Amino acid sequence: MRRRLAAAVVVSCLAVASCSTSGGSTGSSSKRTTTTVEREQTTTSADGDAPSPAGDPLPGDVPDRTFPGLGDPRIDVTHYGVTLRATPGDDEISGSVELDLRPRTKEPLTSFTLDLRGPKVTMAGVDGVRAKATTSNGQVTITPSSPIEPSAHAVVTLQYEGVPDQSEFPGWGMPVGWQSDDEGGWFTMSEPDGTATWVPVNDHPSDKASWTIRIQVPKGVTAIANGRLKGGAPKPVEDGREQWTWVEEEPMASYLVLVAIGDYDLVTSEHGGIEVVRAFPTSLDEEDRAAFDPIEEIVDFFSSQFGAYPNDDAGAIVVPTGLGLALESQTRPLFGTDGIAGDSAPALPHELAHQWFGDAVSPASWTDVWLNEGFATYADWMWDEHQGGRTVDEQAVRTAGLGPADDAAVRSTESAGTFSTSVYEGGALALQALRRTVGDEVFFRIIRRWVAERDGTSATTADFVALASDESGRDLSGFFTEWLEQSPQPALPG
Ligand code: TRP
Ligand code: ZN
Repeated sequence: MRRRLAAAVVVSCLAVASCSTSGGSTGSSSKRTTTTVEREQTTTSADGDAPSPAGDPLPGDVPDRTFPGLGDPRIDVTHYGVTLRATPGDDEISGSVELDLRPRTKEPLTSFTLDLRGPKVTMAGVDGVRAKATTSNGQVTITPSSPIEPSAHAVVTLQYEGVPDQSEFPGWGMPVGWQSDDEGGWFTMSEPDGTATWVPVNDHPSDKASWTIRIQVPKGVTAIANGRLKGGAPKPVEDGREQWTWVEEEPMASYLVLVAIGDYDLVTSEHGGIEVVRAFPTSLDEEDRAAFDPIEEIVDFFSSQFGAYPNDDAGAIVVPTGLGLALESQTRPLFGTDGIAGDSAPALPHELAHQWFGDAVSPASWTDVWLNEGFATYADWMWDEHQGGRTVDEQAVRTAGLGPADDAAVRSTESAGTFSTSVYEGGALALQALRRTVGDEVFFRIIRRWVAERDGTSATTADFVALASDESGRDLSGFFTEWLEQSPQPALPG
């Protein structure tokens, strides 16, 4: 029960010959992994991932030791307005996207890149004027007819069409991006880089934005995304299609964007000012649906521990296929039918905890992914304790005995790049070590301040260390170096 997530990892890994769940191996199937350049730990830049020409294959990529090929640090996208046409059984998509952005550069911005794999851009404009767009190597380079002034906001419009080019997650082998379900529909599972398979995007969690997602599907097909369904229903558009408009106003990291189309029931309810939407395949029976009954209870418990639920929308989606794992897509975490065991969805508390840790507060670099997975694992322990199971401390002691970070440090590129046990259980152990060091009261003040102060932003491990040091009144940098940057981890403090 408690280790269901890890069990799911093992299952999905069995299919991959070279897979290791202990974080010791990195997959060889991805272009990106092979371009990863090992460097010394560094604290010279804000995100602890100092720019390195060697580790940064294209000049326009966000410096990230773990996944170096993504995003463009020269732009800050504040909003995406997407209109997507997709059809069950047809692998071609087409769409248009309007991006509101501003330069992050001091100089006028002469060009920038977006990530896009598969579809091609057919038309580009900046502030209503035709712009040049060239696609190569999974990126679109956009050159406005005149540079964008650093102080300006620009509206970039792109039209695109083609077939999404799915990728595989290194080590785990599961498909990432736009993919088919078992009933002819489509859905996205996009951590860490899959959103670029269906929309041009600044695909790095350091650049969060609000999203409006309009999906045009044949009449009778249901389309789902993050946030709130505008108008509560789809509206007719041309060609006999219907458009479903979903609005997510809270800043969202691009890997958390969700789209699904197919035969779904939407079950909508209200809970303490939050609109809760559960999306189930029409084929899913009542017992399986009941596995998602505890959403409100779990949200209430975590709200009492971490501070108010950080969104106006909540829920879950089940897609009609096996996934091997679940994903914390914002407001609406994603599960496969294999994520349901009897009358429970074992990863539900974990994915709901991510709404605070990962979604509200996102990692500024993929090397910081323990801020997602370590915290969600820890929250899962808390939920189990709250349910009358093992206490958090018992679970920590038991986990420590397994040496989850014995092969590689929590913040190593091996661990972060494979989402290994080091990141999940090793990250959670670091938190229990912190709690034992500073005491319960200070620990929960730290956690609550983390969410309250960083909600809506992307934060670094250095930010967390600074906050923990400030709240506890002691310098914890050495403590976190031992727990996060070194392997094996120390013994839990007494
Ligand atoms: N973030 C997910 C979780 O733990 C796990 C996950 C989903 C994942 N998609 C992935 C991990 C792709 C690695 C690769 O809740
Ligand atoms: Zn997780």
